[in-house]
This record gives sequence, C-alpha cells and structure tokens, in this order.
Amino acid sequence: MRDRPLRILGIPGSLRRQSYNRGLLLAAQELAPPDVTIELYELHDLPLYDQDLEEAGPPATVLHFKRTIAEADALLIATPEYNWSVPGPLKNAIDWASRPPATSPLRRKPVALMGAATGVSGTMRAQLALRQIFASTESYVLPKPDVFVREAAGLFQEGRLVDQETRERIRQLLEALVAWTLRFRE
Ligand SMILES: Cc1cc2nc3c(=O)[nH]c(=O)nc-3n(C[C@H](O)[C@H](O)[C@H](O)COP(=O)(O)O)c2cc1C
Repeated sequence: MRDRPLRILGIPGSLRRQSYNRGLLLAAQELAPPDVTIELYELHDLPLYDQDLEEAGPPATVLHFKRTIAEADALLIATPEYNWSVPGPLKNAIDWASRPPATSPLRRKPVALMGAATGVSGTMRAQLALRQIFASTESYVLPKPDVFVREAAGLFQEGRLVDQETRERIRQLLEALVAWTLRFRE
C-alpha cells in the first residue's frame, strides 16, 4: 500500500519536436498504472555545463532541474543513440545533476532506460554507455527488461506509438520500475 502516487520523471534524450523517444514517454504516460504519475522534463533550457558557472552559483534552470529530480521517486529516460553513444544534451544534463557528488539528486535514484532509433541497434550502445555513467553517479539502474526500439519510424502514426508489442514492453518496464523503486523505499 502506498500513501501517495509514485512520481516518475520522464526525460527525453532528444530535443527534436517529433522525437520518437519523447513518443515512447508519451506512451508510458498512457500505460502507467493509476497510482503512478509520469511528468516529462525537457532539456532545451539547460546551459552547457561549465564549472565556473557552477561555482558562481548554478543558473535557476539547473537548480530547478536538480530539485525536480530530487522530488521524483524514479527517473525514466528515453534516449536516442548518437554516434554509438549518449546524445550531448542528455550527457550534459546528467553532468549538471551529478554535481556536487555528495548531494547529487542522482545518488541512489532508481532509473529505468529505454530508447528508440531509426536503425536496427535500438539504442543498445547508448543505453550501455548510460549504465556506465550512472555507475559513476551511484544511481540504481533497473537491470531488465530491455526496451530497445528498432526502426522506430514504422511504429508511430501521427506522433503516437501504435505498435502493440512495443507498448507492451513499455508497460512491463513500468511495472518493473515500480517494483524496483519500492525496494529502495525506507
Ligand atoms: C547526430 C546523430 C547521430 C546518430 N547516430 C546514430 C547511432 O549511432 N545509432 C543509431 O541507431 N541511430 C543514430 N542516429 C539516428 C537516430 O536513431 C534517429 O535520428 C532518431 O530518430 C533520433 O531519435 P529521436 O527521434 O528521439 O530524435 C543518429 C542521428 C543523429 C542526428
């Protein structure tokens, strides 16, 4: 029994308006159990990480981003793969949120990963790279199930994910993320 809905923060790793990865998160919102909320956080307004900016006092957008992560029970990241790795805007956002390490809202934060690509790799390499990054931030990344969405262009109609198999995999990921998050509740 939970005293309040579980809050999941969905982060699209793409800035593109018609992003398939944002589309995965919109589908996750539709598929979430009734006692789970999924809010989306867009990365457009975060500046490039600069230690001088951080030391002068981080910009309001960065503070807001870190506070929003802290208030979430878990993160759900849907990312493309850029040149076999994590897109720059997403890595930049994680770098901001990782600082300073001792008080980073990423520490001990449950995280689930999924990703869509237009090719056949389904973002496998980007997700592996994210797992390495989240080892550094001491985040708790859900081990399974994998959601590697290949050849994404054919799975959407008017921006909506219509492929039933992919929708079912996302539903299973959400179910596993909820159980994973509750394990870390004191
Ligand atoms: C700079 C760049 C690099 C890319 N590199 C890869 C890649 O390494 N592997 C891959 O599967 N797709 C790659 N793609 C294609 C993306 O899978 C495709 O653009 C996808 O739609 C991006 O996700 P989005 O729809 O959420 O923006 C790349 C695209 C861009 C713009």
